[in-house]
Amino acid sequence: MNEVFVKRLNPLPPKSKLIIFGGGFSGQRIASVGRNLGTKVLCSRRKENSEGADFIFNTDNEIPNEILDGATHVLSCIPPLRNGEDPVLSKLKPQLLNSKNLKWVGYLSTTGVYGDTKGEWVNENTSPKPQQERSVRRYSCEKQWLETKLPVQILRLPGIYGPGRSAFESIMTGKVKMIDKPGQVFSRIHVDDIAGAVLFLINLYSQGKNPSVVNIADNLPTNNLEVISFAAKIAKKSLPSKIPYEIAKNTMSPMALSFWQENRKVDNRLLCKTLGYSLIYPDFKSGLKNCFSNLKMNC
Ligand SMILES: NC(=O)c1ccc[n+]([C@@H]2O[C@H](COP(=O)([O-])OP(=O)(O)OC[C@H]3O[C@@H](n4cnc5c(N)ncnc54)[C@H](OP(=O)(O)O)[C@@H]3O)[C@@H](O)[C@H]2O)c1
Repeated sequence: MNEVFVKRLNPLPPKSKLIIFGGGFSGQRIASVGRNLGTKVLCSRRKENSEGADFIFNTDNEIPNEILDGATHVLSCIPPLRNGEDPVLSKLKPQLLNSKNLKWVGYLSTTGVYGDTKGEWVNENTSPKPQQERSVRRYSCEKQWLETKLPVQILRLPGIYGPGRSAFESIMTGKVKMIDKPGQVFSRIHVDDIAGAVLFLINLYSQGKNPSVVNIADNLPTNNLEVISFAAKIAKKSLPSKIPYEIAKNTMSPMALSFWQENRKVDNRLLCKTLGYSLIYPDFKSGLKNCFSNLKMNC
């Protein structure tokens, strides 16, 4: 396994079995690191023959009862349903409540639940004030998980990036937009640090270090222009001119607009100082260098 993980992570206890619902970008990476630590991991996708689908979990279909057999750890990476229900709980709540072996249940949430703080820091003690409809649904799913009284840990994530999903993709395809909104920052997290932190937290949980909510973010909330400019410099690509936000917002999708309407910095001190996780990519510069080296390897 990659040395960066070996330094940070201990294997899960023998006979652990981690079931991941939603083997998308983060789910697959967590699965891969978990398997490298020697743990049995099964990952769901919605469609047969999708890459990395160990089993099918789709809220539109019947779910086989035996999905949770032998599970010691469960992680949901699936966003809320449109009606606000949590997809996994909507299908498997009784089975989860009856699972005798569950030691940890993780839920990947978003820092969107904190709402807009006009650029101020948020930490796990900040009261969530979700403003976007999807963040209201998300906060409701967090509560649905916590109300189960299972050994639940809510992991709040800011913008996820990593190889194949970073500023390079929009720069290389010429679709990048240099939106200029002075004072606006975004927090981020590299997908390897999601995987690293999840497996690190699972082991701590069994030692009684088990906060019910943890932010997983890097150290350096930054304006998007800085991120794009740094990526372009590494890739030796030129960039289009800046567009003031007040003009750009007129042609933004509702989803993009909703991101630009919120401004906050995510504090990671609980994860990195109190609990002791050491980030693999502490800021966007180290993370983007990793993304670029993967891009070059795949060219
Ligand atoms: N992307 C971000 O920047 C960001 C930021 C903060 C939080 N989050 C949240 O963090 C989690 C992980 O993010 P990600 O970007 O790694 O996710 P992702 O790549 O979009 O993967 C989401 C997974 O959920 C599955 N899924 C979606 N709807 C489902 C349903 N109704 N029934 C069953 N499975 C369903 C997808 O199935 P298929 O594999 O079949 O498509 C996929 O495996 C998500 O909940 C996401 O909303 C994302």
